[in-house]
Amino acid sequence: MTVSTQHTGDAALQRIKQLREQIEAHNQQYYQYDAPVISDADYDALMQELLQLEQQFPELQSKDSPTHRIGAAPLESFPQVVHQVPMLSLDNAFSDEEISAFIERTQQRLNQTDIDFVAEPKLDGLAVSLIYENGILKQAATRGDGSRGEDITDNIRTMQCIPLHVTREVPALFEVRGEVYISRKGFAELNQRCQQQGKKLFANPRNAAAGSLRQLDSRVTAQRPLLFYAYGYGVFPDESLPKTQFELLQQLQAWGFPVCREIQLVNGLQGCLDNYRTMETMRPELAFDIDGVVYKVNRFDYQRQLGFVSRAPRWAIARKFPAEEAITQVIAIDVQVGRTGALTPVARLNPTTVGGVVVTNASLHNFHELRQKDIRVDDSVVIRRAGDVIPEVVRVLIDRRPETAMPYKQPEVCPVCGSGLEQEQIVVRCSAGLYCPAQRKEAIKHFASRKAMDIDGLGDKIVNQLLEAGLINTSADLYRLQLSQLIELPRFGHQSAANLLSSIENSRSTTFSRFLYALGIREVGETTAKHLAQQFSDLDALMQVDQQTLEEIDDIGPVVAQHIVSFFQQAHNREVIQQLIQAGINWEVIKPETASMPLLNQRFVLTGV
Ligand code: IVH
Repeated sequence: MTVSTQHTGDAALQRIKQLREQIEAHNQQYYQYDAPVISDADYDALMQELLQLEQQFPELQSKDSPTHRIGAAPLESFPQVVHQVPMLSLDNAFSDEEISAFIERTQQRLNQTDIDFVAEPKLDGLAVSLIYENGILKQAATRGDGSRGEDITDNIRTMQCIPLHVTREVPALFEVRGEVYISRKGFAELNQRCQQQGKKLFANPRNAAAGSLRQLDSRVTAQRPLLFYAYGYGVFPDESLPKTQFELLQQLQAWGFPVCREIQLVNGLQGCLDNYRTMETMRPELAFDIDGVVYKVNRFDYQRQLGFVSRAPRWAIARKFPAEEAITQVIAIDVQVGRTGALTPVARLNPTTVGGVVVTNASLHNFHELRQKDIRVDDSVVIRRAGDVIPEVVRVLIDRRPETAMPYKQPEVCPVCGSGLEQEQIVVRCSAGLYCPAQRKEAIKHFASRKAMDIDGLGDKIVNQLLEAGLINTSADLYRLQLSQLIELPRFGHQSAANLLSSIENSRSTTFSRFLYALGIREVGETTAKHLAQQFSDLDALMQVDQQTLEEIDDIGPVVAQHIVSFFQQAHNREVIQQLIQAGINWEVIKPETASMPLLNQRFVLTGV
């Protein structure tokens, strides 16, 4: 039997338990209340003692111990998780009037005039879900597309402010939701470190938080100053759920989860508007970035009554702060060709900081807008940036225009492939379809994107490289790539080539709706792809459907229906689809009885692709 100098096995177990609880309690004191009760040295001493005991008694080691917050071995990729309760988004409001309309709607729907709201700062980070079983953190996941996210448990475990073990009496299973973010101070220090190490700097705290959380090596995450605020719940037993949002937050705080201190319980429209003014003034002094305030109906029974629309609850709204503006000069006007061939003029700008981010480009949306605003090279312009949205040019400062600034001349042919252009209302399109290299590249990037086939590591630069080397021409060619071909390419090591191939390999198993979205059919976004996948038993059925049947589906109008039919009529598209299926792309077929929406009448016959 191993006997420590101070403890026998039993005594060690007791002491280990005590130390773990003490350390977690100190973490809470520090992260929740910003009020440590012991010195850093005393804290370190507790940690050291725990580490030594766990080394002496390896059988008493546990993943839930605070000593395990240093990170685990790197993962190949993040496993996917399905959210039992979808993770929703929020509708936005930008004015007092929009808040007033939200409150009126809420009052009418509830047939109540006296409604309390919880006002919560809208933190600028990433939504995560934390699942606890018997008080122990079992799974942490990103929001992903709202129904499926990534399992980031190892990374979340490294965050000291998140309890690994809730020692209070809690339900056997519950899910806490909240925001992972980085404080302004943490962000500045992180970027300083990056600069010293000659690494690329993060553009803003949100990007830094996202980059840190999506690290396959959790030891890297452990070095990042990530913080967390709880603001909601997912799976939660009814009998343990308080009656209101405010009480839920109090309960979560009592269980050891950090809850934002600036949360306020307010009444009706006036309460929301007053709170917004207060938050506007408090904003510069906060320790973290916020991009607005969220107003949530306080009573959960009211929330249930109100329900959801599409991806956002009817019981909450985000009042966003106005976008920030700055003045700079237009250096050039370039034209980009998108996935569907649409030409978009882009203003290249003299780099300038707006809302803490250096901006070098602004979208001009289309030529019509460019002409209306009469934007010219060398003009001084006001640019605006709101949240993560691409910055835009608001207006030209005409009195600063140099005499040499000439009106912009729109291209007469596609700037990438030289083909003719087609005009469709205000959109100008290259007519070459997938024969245009720009459209081909964008189609492949879209295919690989996170909400589509989710091929990690296949970004803009690599797609370019593969196209230029002639290794790919269509998305189906990705599944024929060989290790020997990739390692021949500049900047491709053995490891990065193997990683890319394994991401491609993993993407073979997907869902029908992701596959449909990945095909890049015009106007078929994620939601439409989901509806299509629910309505059709398989791909063959969809490929043969007529326009009229499609129009019977929710959310599909004549234009979308026409795009879908003509997409599947094109021989090139049919060929690529066949190659993709032959390459082994597969998904689980949802049987009619388990599909969440009624299927259309089953008049389709399977023919095999
Ligand atoms: S509630 C069903 N509360 O904002 C409600 N979200 O635009 C879903 N966010 O994905 C979210 N602070 O990442 C909620 N106090 C807060 C929040 C908050 C920041 C983020 C969250 C969400 C996004 C929606």
